[in-house]
Amino acid sequence: EIKACLFDLDGVIVDTAKYHYLAWQQLANGLGISFTEEHNELLKGVSRMRSLDIILELGNTTLADDEKMKLATQKNEIYLSYIQRMKDDELLPGVKEFIEEIRNKGIVVALGSASKNARLILKQLHIEELFDAIIDGNEVTQAKPDPEVFLKGAEALQVESRSCVVFEDAIAGVEAAKNAGMACIGVGDPKNLSEADQVISGFEGFNLKQLATFLSDKN
Ligand code: BG6
Ligand code: MG
Repeated sequence: EIKACLFDLDGVIVDTAKYHYLAWQQLANGLGISFTEEHNELLKGVSRMRSLDIILELGNTTLADDEKMKLATQKNEIYLSYIQRMKDDELLPGVKEFIEEIRNKGIVVALGSASKNARLILKQLHIEELFDAIIDGNEVTQAKPDPEVFLKGAEALQVESRSCVVFEDAIAGVEAAKNAGMACIGVGDPKNLSEADQVISGFEGFNLKQLATFLSDKN
């Protein structure tokens, strides 16, 4: 029985991946490192500092910790300049309706995001009240694929892992859900998300009945 759904933010609820990409690209270019959309896939679901490390590795660059802190702050300022202009219509199609549907049917809902900007983004999109619990990058010490973010979400909702379903677009996020002992629906391209129990291309037309069918097929 499904009692709780946990949602990743970036790439599941809102398409912020493009803003992360633009901001990292601007930073990488400044360092003389070429950074492509393909490289960007490696950063999905990954923390800010780890993302910077990956970019520096791509450019065979090593920097002192204080330099890295400065760069991470700089990236976030660029990112925030995009986020602050974001409008409600940048919510991914159907996701708000899906969350409203499951909540109406008694399922509790949490956010489980690696982002330290998660609350700001939810506010900006006017969807903070859709979540019974919010666990974000400020509350976790272990990054996905560690299950911490989802285990904390389930704890906040007071639901056991086996009654939780996670929605994720990142490989590391699907692994985190599996490590938490939860069912996982991948959102995006099936070839990246083969570890998920099912993959959907998006939430348009998706409903609780379909979700229940997916999960009963699995058992
Ligand atoms: C994840 C994104 O949700 O959050 C990553 O997929 C991002 O791309 C990470 O790096 C951390 O986000 P922030 O907003 O704290 O820099
Ligand atoms: Mg994501």
